Parts: sequence; structure tokens; C-alpha cells
Amino acid sequence: MLSYQHAYHAGGPADVHKHVALGLLLGHLAKKDKPFCVFDLYAGEGEYNLEAFAAQKTQDYAKGVSHIWNAGIVPRDAPDGVRTYLELLRRFNPTAELGRYPGSPAIARDFMRDNDGLILNELHSTAFPELGRWARKDPRITVHKRDGLEALVGLTPPAIRRGVVLIDPSYEVKTEYTSVPETVAKSVEKWREGIFAIWYPILKEERHLSLLDGLTQQVNADIFVCELSLPAVKHDEKAPGLRGTGLAVINPPWQFDDAMRDAGFWLARQLQGRHTAKWLKRAET
Ligand SMILES: C[S@@+](CC[C@H](N)C(=O)[O-])C[C@H]1O[C@@H](n2cnc3c(N)ncnc32)[C@H](O)[C@@H]1O
Repeated sequence: MLSYQHAYHAGGPADVHKHVALGLLLGHLAKKDKPFCVFDLYAGEGEYNLEAFAAQKTQDYAKGVSHIWNAGIVPRDAPDGVRTYLELLRRFNPTAELGRYPGSPAIARDFMRDNDGLILNELHSTAFPELGRWARKDPRITVHKRDGLEALVGLTPPAIRRGVVLIDPSYEVKTEYTSVPETVAKSVEKWREGIFAIWYPILKEERHLSLLDGLTQQVNADIFVCELSLPAVKHDEKAPGLRGTGLAVINPPWQFDDAMRDAGFWLARQLQGRHTAKWLKRAET
């Protein structure tokens, strides 16, 4: 049974970093008139109320998006990725208060035009019905309740060839560090033009290294990785917490690397962390 619920972590530092990157990828796809599709295989609830019990209990958003929000004002020095993210938050929160936080499905929907498609998937017994309610009445969205990797195999390649897949597991099941790269490698072979964004946590045990190793060994495509390490906190052995947050992007669009470096540097300054980014792999042509 799955216990992780994203409502407790919405708007935390991991969301900020991942959602800025997602905005850059979607912005690229929306530049051309041709339709695009988005697969969000670990979708969560769609959007979140930061005043609700779950968000208030952990206050994760106070360590993340609150540092960026600053009453919705877009600072002059904000790079494009941050600017897009803040403008989106502003559309969600038209007053000065930051009460609603867009999850990845809501971010995707914000970029979509009439002919674009959003395919959502979520397995949790509480999050799934919430997601269904959030998505109802929008004919561009379909919602599935399957294992995320099973959905990746079953639903791709799509008929609309331009698109992005967000793979954002909770890694409650430790084998995900190896099953994600294995399954993604097969999907990349079937859908060469797809962009795949894979989120991973950086924890004391550094299990993400086996995920990155698996991607390097098994995926024959360009892979860019960026990581935001979080400010040093007292590391409690019983509750080790997140030391950093990472994203591996397969087939990133042109100039995504520079845009993410700029955005990550800015975010790290706001969150008192450190941002690093590099090409994990350049595919053989
Ligand atoms: C980190 S959260 C997703 C957050 C969301 N992508 C966002 O950015 O707003 C991970 C989600 O994956 C769901 N999940 C966990 N294991 C899953 C699985 N095997 N298949 C599908 N969903 C799963 C969890 O219930 C949780 O809602």
C-alpha cells in the first residue's frame, strides 16, 4: 500500500526546482503551433491548498515556494524559467496571498492549447479520486489508475509525437531506482523524439547514483542532469530528510541546459542551496 501523499510536500524545494524545469520544457513545446502531449505518470492530486491540514502540518512550502513568492512580484533579475513559474503562480493566486499551489498536472494544463493532450496517471487511493475531480470536464485530459511504469509501457509512443513525459515517483519502493531507468530506456527506443524528465531525491544513502548509472548505461540519447542541494539541516538519523533534489532530462530541447543553469543558480541563491548541472551523456549519433 502506498503511504506517500504529495499534499504534505506541495510547494517544497523539490517541487520548485522540478516545476521550474517543467515550465521550461512546456514553454518550448508551446512555441510551435503543432500539438503536443504531456504524460504525467505520477500525477498526485492536480493542485493543492496550502492552507489545508497536510501542507500546514509539514510546512514544506515554507522552505520552498514561500521563498520565491514574495507577494507574486517577479524580480527584475529573475531568469526566464523563474519568471514563467512566478507568472503561473500569480495566475493561481491573483491576490497577494499564496494559498493555492499548482501540481504538475495544473502546470501542464496552463500551457495547453485546444489540440494538445494531457495524460495523467496516479495509483494512490486518495490522490486518484482527487485527481479525477480536478480533471473532470476538460476533454483534453485523460486519467488512468495504473502503476506508473506500466502506464509508460502501455501508453507510449503516442499518436501526437511532440511531447514530454514526467516521471516523478515517490521511491517508496526501492526497486524504482533500477526499474525506472530500465523501463525508460525501452520507451526512449520506441519514442525517439519524446522528452523524458525523471525526478529523483538525493538522500543520505545516495540511491539516486544507481538510477543515474542505469540511465547512463541503458539510455541511448542525450541526458542532462541538474541538482539543487538544500541548506544543511541537522540530519536526524531517524528522519534523514531530503538533502537535495534532482532531475534528469532525456532529449532536452535546444538551450534547455543554459536556461536551467540560469534558473537553478537563481533558485539556489533564494533557497540558500547550491545548484549543479551537467550533461550526463551525449548520445552516439
Ligand atoms: C512526488 S508525487 C507527484 C507529484 C506531482 N508529479 C507534482 O509534481 O505535482 C508522487 C506521486 O506518485 C504516486 N505513486 C507512487 N507510486 C506510484 C506508482 N507505482 N504508480 C503511479 N503512481 C504512484 C503517489 O501516490 C504520489 O501521488
